[in-house]
Amino acid sequence: MEQVNIGLLGVGNVGGGTFQILKNNHDIISGRIGIEINVKKALTYSLNEERKIEIPLDILTTNADEILGDSDIDIIVEVLGGIEPATSYMIQAMKSGKHVVTANKAAVAANYEKLMATAKENNVMLLTEACVGGAIPALTSIKTALQGNRFYEVSGILNGTTNYIMSKMYDDGSAYEDVLKEAQAKGFAEANPTDDVMGYDVANKLSILMALTFGKYVSPKDIPTVGITNITKDDIELAKANNTKIKLIGSAVLSETGELGYSVKPVKINCDHPLFNVDNEFNAVYIKGDAFGELMYYGKGAGALPTGSAIVGDIISIINNIWR
Ligand code: HSE
Repeated sequence: MEQVNIGLLGVGNVGGGTFQILKNNHDIISGRIGIEINVKKALTYSLNEERKIEIPLDILTTNADEILGDSDIDIIVEVLGGIEPATSYMIQAMKSGKHVVTANKAAVAANYEKLMATAKENNVMLLTEACVGGAIPALTSIKTALQGNRFYEVSGILNGTTNYIMSKMYDDGSAYEDVLKEAQAKGFAEANPTDDVMGYDVANKLSILMALTFGKYVSPKDIPTVGITNITKDDIELAKANNTKIKLIGSAVLSETGELGYSVKPVKINCDHPLFNVDNEFNAVYIKGDAFGELMYYGKGAGALPTGSAIVGDIISIINNIWR
Protein backbone atom coordinates (compact mmCIF):
# COMPACT_ATOMS: atom_id res chain seq x y z
CA MET A 1 0.00 0.00 0.00
CA GLU A 2 1.26 3.51 -0.80
CA GLN A 3 2.58 5.35 2.24
CA VAL A 4 2.41 9.03 3.22
CA ASN A 5 5.05 10.10 5.74
CA ILE A 6 4.28 12.51 8.53
CA GLY A 7 6.72 14.63 10.51
CA LEU A 8 5.29 15.50 13.90
CA LEU A 9 6.59 18.72 15.40
CA GLY A 10 5.72 18.28 19.07
CA VAL A 11 4.74 15.23 21.07
CA GLY A 12 3.06 16.87 24.07
CA ASN A 13 -0.63 16.62 24.85
CA VAL A 14 -2.03 17.17 21.33
CA GLY A 15 0.93 15.60 19.49
CA GLY A 16 0.57 12.53 21.73
CA GLY A 17 -3.18 12.38 21.04
CA THR A 18 -2.56 12.58 17.30
CA PHE A 19 0.03 9.80 17.45
CA GLN A 20 -2.36 7.65 19.48
CA ILE A 21 -5.23 8.05 16.97
CA LEU A 22 -2.95 7.30 14.00
CA LYS A 23 -1.69 4.18 15.79
CA ASN A 24 -4.96 2.86 17.25
CA ASN A 25 -7.02 3.58 14.13
CA HIS A 26 -4.27 2.78 11.62
CA ASP A 27 -6.11 -0.10 9.96
CA ILE A 28 -9.49 1.58 9.78
CA ILE A 29 -7.97 4.75 8.28
CA SER A 30 -5.82 2.94 5.69
CA GLY A 31 -8.81 0.75 4.84
CA ARG A 32 -10.85 3.87 4.12
CA ILE A 33 -8.33 5.88 2.15
CA GLY A 34 -6.19 3.10 0.63
CA ILE A 35 -3.02 4.82 1.85
CA GLU A 36 -0.95 4.14 4.92
CA ILE A 37 -0.14 7.09 7.20
CA ASN A 38 3.26 6.65 8.80
CA VAL A 39 4.71 8.96 11.46
CA LYS A 40 8.32 8.91 10.28
CA LYS A 41 9.84 11.33 12.78
CA ALA A 42 8.72 13.33 15.77
CA LEU A 43 10.30 16.37 17.38
CA THR A 44 10.66 16.47 21.15
CA TYR A 45 12.43 18.87 23.47
CA SER A 46 13.99 15.99 25.37
CA LEU A 47 14.40 12.31 24.54
CA ASN A 48 14.06 11.32 28.19
CA GLU A 49 10.83 13.22 28.86
CA GLU A 50 8.02 11.24 30.49
CA ARG A 51 5.14 10.84 28.07
CA LYS A 52 1.52 9.79 28.54
CA ILE A 53 1.71 8.06 25.17
CA GLU A 54 4.47 5.61 24.29
CA ILE A 55 6.34 6.81 21.20
CA PRO A 56 9.15 4.63 19.74
CA LEU A 57 12.52 6.14 20.60
CA ASP A 58 13.87 5.60 17.09
CA ILE A 59 11.46 8.11 15.55
CA LEU A 60 12.17 10.82 18.15
CA THR A 61 14.62 13.63 17.49
CA THR A 62 15.48 16.92 19.18
CA ASN A 63 16.59 18.43 15.87
CA ALA A 64 13.81 20.07 13.80
CA ASP A 65 16.02 20.12 10.68
CA GLU A 66 16.07 16.32 10.65
CA ILE A 67 12.32 16.49 10.01
CA LEU A 68 12.04 19.66 7.92
CA GLY A 69 14.98 18.58 5.73
CA ASP A 70 13.74 15.02 5.20
CA SER A 71 12.57 14.81 1.59
CA ASP A 72 10.58 11.62 2.34
CA ILE A 73 8.31 13.53 4.71
CA ASP A 74 5.20 14.74 2.88
CA ILE A 75 3.12 16.38 5.62
CA ILE A 76 4.27 18.31 8.68
CA VAL A 77 2.00 18.35 11.73
CA GLU A 78 2.90 21.35 13.85
CA VAL A 79 1.70 21.14 17.46
CA LEU A 80 4.46 22.96 19.28
CA GLY A 81 2.37 25.92 20.43
CA GLY A 82 3.71 29.47 20.63
CA ILE A 83 4.31 31.78 17.70
CA GLU A 84 8.01 31.01 17.21
CA PRO A 85 9.76 28.86 16.16
CA ALA A 86 6.47 27.29 15.01
CA THR A 87 5.74 29.90 12.31
CA SER A 88 9.27 29.67 10.85
CA TYR A 89 9.09 25.87 10.82
CA MET A 90 5.75 25.94 8.99
CA ILE A 91 7.09 28.40 6.41
CA GLN A 92 10.28 26.37 5.93
CA ALA A 93 8.20 23.20 5.48
CA MET A 94 5.89 24.79 2.88
CA LYS A 95 8.82 26.28 0.98
CA SER A 96 10.22 22.77 0.64
CA GLY A 97 6.94 21.54 -0.81
CA LYS A 98 5.51 19.94 2.33
CA HIS A 99 1.87 20.27 3.28
CA VAL A 100 1.17 21.50 6.82
CA VAL A 101 -1.47 20.72 9.43
CA THR A 102 -1.45 22.75 12.61
CA ALA A 103 -3.35 23.15 15.87
CA ASN A 104 -1.36 26.26 16.73
CA LYS A 105 -3.94 29.03 16.83
CA ALA A 106 -1.52 31.59 18.24
CA ALA A 107 0.91 31.17 15.32
CA VAL A 108 -1.86 31.01 12.69
CA ALA A 109 -3.75 34.03 14.05
CA ALA A 110 -0.58 36.13 14.39
CA ASN A 111 0.71 35.31 10.89
CA TYR A 112 -2.45 34.32 9.00
CA GLU A 113 -1.80 36.24 5.80
CA LYS A 114 1.86 35.29 5.55
CA LEU A 115 1.17 31.60 6.19
CA MET A 116 -1.70 31.41 3.70
CA ALA A 117 0.32 33.29 1.06
CA THR A 118 3.26 30.90 1.56
CA ALA A 119 0.95 27.90 1.08
CA LYS A 120 -0.42 29.42 -2.13
CA GLU A 121 2.98 30.42 -3.53
CA ASN A 122 4.33 26.92 -2.95
CA ASN A 123 1.20 25.14 -4.12
CA VAL A 124 0.80 23.20 -0.88
CA MET A 125 -2.07 22.83 1.58
CA LEU A 126 -2.12 24.41 5.04
CA LEU A 127 -5.03 23.14 7.15
CA THR A 128 -5.98 24.57 10.52
CA GLU A 129 -9.18 22.83 11.65
CA ALA A 130 -7.68 21.91 15.04
CA CYS A 131 -6.97 25.57 15.82
CA VAL A 132 -10.62 26.36 16.55
CA GLY A 133 -13.04 24.32 18.64
CA GLY A 134 -10.95 21.14 19.02
CA ALA A 135 -12.91 18.29 17.44
CA ILE A 136 -15.62 20.53 15.94
CA PRO A 137 -15.34 20.64 12.13
CA ALA A 138 -16.47 24.27 11.91
CA LEU A 139 -13.69 25.63 9.70
CA THR A 140 -14.05 22.81 7.19
CA SER A 141 -17.83 23.35 7.05
CA ILE A 142 -17.43 27.10 6.55
CA LYS A 143 -14.93 26.44 3.73
CA THR A 144 -17.07 23.78 2.04
CA ALA A 145 -20.71 22.99 2.87
CA LEU A 146 -21.66 26.57 3.79
CA GLN A 147 -19.79 28.40 1.01
CA GLY A 148 -22.96 29.25 -0.89
CA ASN A 149 -24.08 31.61 1.86
CA ARG A 150 -23.67 35.22 2.77
CA PHE A 151 -22.58 35.10 6.42
CA TYR A 152 -23.99 37.45 9.07
CA GLU A 153 -22.48 36.18 12.29
CA VAL A 154 -19.94 33.80 13.71
CA SER A 155 -19.87 33.58 17.49
CA GLY A 156 -19.17 30.98 20.06
CA ILE A 157 -17.78 29.46 23.16
CA LEU A 158 -14.27 28.81 21.94
CA ASN A 159 -12.27 28.01 25.04
CA GLY A 160 -12.68 24.80 27.02
CA THR A 161 -10.75 25.97 30.07
CA THR A 162 -12.78 29.09 30.73
CA ASN A 163 -16.06 27.36 29.93
CA TYR A 164 -15.10 24.59 32.36
CA ILE A 165 -14.27 27.17 35.02
CA MET A 166 -17.49 29.15 34.49
CA SER A 167 -19.58 25.95 34.48
CA LYS A 168 -18.07 24.59 37.71
CA MET A 169 -18.45 27.96 39.42
CA TYR A 170 -22.11 28.02 38.29
CA ASP A 171 -22.91 24.38 39.15
CA ASP A 172 -20.94 23.84 42.36
CA GLY A 173 -20.17 27.34 43.57
CA SER A 174 -16.48 26.29 43.34
CA ALA A 175 -13.66 28.79 43.71
CA TYR A 176 -11.93 30.05 40.57
CA GLU A 177 -8.39 28.87 41.50
CA ASP A 178 -9.50 25.31 42.37
CA VAL A 179 -11.35 24.86 39.10
CA LEU A 180 -8.43 26.28 37.10
CA LYS A 181 -6.11 23.65 38.64
CA GLU A 182 -8.62 20.93 37.73
CA ALA A 183 -8.78 22.18 34.11
CA GLN A 184 -4.97 22.10 33.90
CA ALA A 185 -4.86 18.56 35.29
CA LYS A 186 -7.38 17.48 32.65
CA GLY A 187 -5.18 18.91 29.88
CA PHE A 188 -7.57 21.65 28.69
CA ALA A 189 -5.69 24.69 29.94
CA GLU A 190 -2.57 25.97 28.29
CA ALA A 191 0.72 25.51 30.21
CA ASN A 192 0.39 29.21 30.87
CA PRO A 193 -3.34 29.70 31.58
CA THR A 194 -3.06 33.47 31.15
CA ASP A 195 -3.95 33.07 27.47
CA ASP A 196 -7.11 31.17 28.42
CA VAL A 197 -8.42 33.29 31.29
CA MET A 198 -7.53 36.66 29.75
CA GLY A 199 -9.42 35.77 26.56
CA TYR A 200 -6.33 35.86 24.29
CA ASP A 201 -6.85 32.26 23.19
CA VAL A 202 -10.42 33.10 22.11
CA ALA A 203 -9.16 36.20 20.28
CA ASN A 204 -6.77 33.97 18.29
CA LYS A 205 -9.59 31.59 17.40
CA LEU A 206 -12.01 34.41 16.52
CA SER A 207 -9.38 35.98 14.26
CA ILE A 208 -9.09 32.70 12.29
CA LEU A 209 -12.88 32.22 12.18
CA MET A 210 -13.43 35.76 10.91
CA ALA A 211 -10.79 35.42 8.21
CA LEU A 212 -12.53 32.33 6.89
CA THR A 213 -16.12 33.47 7.35
CA PHE A 214 -15.89 37.10 6.28
CA GLY A 215 -12.63 37.05 4.30
CA LYS A 216 -11.30 39.76 6.62
CA TYR A 217 -8.17 39.21 8.66
CA VAL A 218 -8.06 41.08 11.95
CA SER A 219 -5.01 40.59 14.14
CA PRO A 220 -5.97 39.17 17.56
CA LYS A 221 -4.22 42.20 19.06
CA ASP A 222 -6.88 44.40 17.43
CA ILE A 223 -9.85 42.44 18.76
CA PRO A 224 -11.25 44.12 21.91
CA THR A 225 -10.72 41.40 24.52
CA VAL A 226 -11.86 40.98 28.13
CA GLY A 227 -11.23 37.73 30.02
CA ILE A 228 -12.96 36.08 32.98
CA THR A 229 -10.54 36.99 35.75
CA ASN A 230 -12.82 39.65 37.24
CA ILE A 231 -15.94 37.49 37.40
CA THR A 232 -16.92 36.91 41.01
CA LYS A 233 -19.09 34.32 42.72
CA ASP A 234 -21.65 37.12 43.22
CA ASP A 235 -21.75 37.85 39.46
CA ILE A 236 -22.43 34.17 38.85
CA GLU A 237 -25.18 34.02 41.50
CA LEU A 238 -26.83 37.14 40.10
CA ALA A 239 -26.76 35.75 36.55
CA LYS A 240 -28.25 32.49 37.84
CA ALA A 241 -31.07 34.33 39.60
CA ASN A 242 -31.93 35.98 36.25
CA ASN A 243 -31.99 32.67 34.33
CA THR A 244 -28.77 33.50 32.53
CA LYS A 245 -25.25 32.08 32.53
CA ILE A 246 -22.07 34.08 32.10
CA LYS A 247 -20.03 32.68 29.21
CA LEU A 248 -16.85 33.92 27.58
CA ILE A 249 -18.03 34.67 24.04
CA GLY A 250 -16.00 35.44 20.94
CA SER A 251 -18.27 37.13 18.45
CA ALA A 252 -18.18 38.75 15.01
CA VAL A 253 -21.38 40.23 13.62
CA LEU A 254 -21.98 41.99 10.31
CA SER A 255 -24.25 45.03 10.73
CA GLU A 256 -26.99 45.94 8.24
CA THR A 257 -24.70 48.65 6.90
CA GLY A 258 -21.96 46.07 6.27
CA GLU A 259 -19.64 46.86 9.17
CA LEU A 260 -18.06 43.98 11.02
CA GLY A 261 -18.18 44.29 14.82
CA TYR A 262 -16.11 41.90 16.89
CA SER A 263 -15.13 41.28 20.50
CA VAL A 264 -14.19 38.71 23.11
CA LYS A 265 -15.88 39.23 26.46
CA PRO A 266 -18.00 37.60 29.19
CA VAL A 267 -21.66 37.79 28.16
CA LYS A 268 -24.86 36.90 30.03
CA ILE A 269 -26.53 34.25 27.88
CA ASN A 270 -30.29 33.83 28.21
CA CYS A 271 -31.68 30.38 28.99
CA ASP A 272 -33.42 30.21 25.59
CA HIS A 273 -30.21 30.76 23.56
CA PRO A 274 -28.54 27.64 22.05
CA LEU A 275 -25.24 28.58 23.75
CA PHE A 276 -26.84 28.43 27.24
CA ASN A 277 -26.44 24.65 27.57
CA VAL A 278 -22.87 24.49 26.28
CA ASP A 279 -21.04 23.63 29.49
CA ASN A 280 -17.77 22.30 30.91
CA GLU A 281 -14.97 21.78 28.37
CA PHE A 282 -17.44 21.78 25.49
CA ASN A 283 -17.24 24.44 22.79
CA ALA A 284 -19.81 25.64 20.30
CA VAL A 285 -19.59 27.64 17.11
CA TYR A 286 -22.79 29.50 16.27
CA ILE A 287 -23.19 30.82 12.69
CA LYS A 288 -25.84 32.80 10.86
CA GLY A 289 -26.13 32.84 7.07
CA ASP A 290 -28.69 34.02 4.54
CA ALA A 291 -29.60 30.57 3.19
CA PHE A 292 -29.12 28.17 6.11
CA GLY A 293 -30.37 30.58 8.79
CA GLU A 294 -28.87 29.50 12.10
CA LEU A 295 -26.43 26.66 12.76
CA MET A 296 -24.58 25.57 15.86
CA TYR A 297 -21.71 23.10 16.04
CA TYR A 298 -21.14 21.55 19.45
CA GLY A 299 -18.36 19.32 20.72
CA LYS A 300 -15.21 18.93 22.74
CA GLY A 301 -13.06 21.99 22.20
CA ALA A 302 -9.90 20.85 23.93
CA GLY A 303 -7.94 17.80 25.00
CA ALA A 304 -5.52 15.41 23.33
CA LEU A 305 -7.94 13.14 21.46
CA PRO A 306 -10.60 15.68 20.37
CA THR A 307 -7.90 18.01 19.02
CA GLY A 308 -6.01 15.03 17.58
CA SER A 309 -9.21 14.02 15.82
CA ALA A 310 -9.28 17.34 13.93
CA ILE A 311 -5.60 17.00 13.05
CA VAL A 312 -6.01 13.49 11.69
CA GLY A 313 -9.06 14.72 9.73
CA ASP A 314 -6.90 17.44 8.14
CA ILE A 315 -4.15 14.92 7.28
CA ILE A 316 -6.76 12.75 5.57
CA SER A 317 -8.22 15.79 3.70
CA ILE A 318 -4.76 16.54 2.32
CA ILE A 319 -4.27 12.92 1.28
CA ASN A 320 -7.73 12.85 -0.36
CA ASN A 321 -6.92 16.06 -2.27
CA ILE A 322 -3.38 15.35 -3.31
CA TRP A 323 -2.84 11.60 -3.44
CA ARG A 324 -6.21 10.19 -4.50
N1 HSE B 1 -6.57 25.93 26.15
C1 HSE B 1 -7.48 25.73 25.08
C2 HSE B 1 -8.87 25.61 25.63
C3 HSE B 1 -7.09 24.49 24.33
O1 HSE B 1 -9.01 25.53 26.85
O2 HSE B 1 -9.84 25.63 24.88
C4 HSE B 1 -7.80 24.29 23.04
O3 HSE B 1 -7.55 25.30 22.13
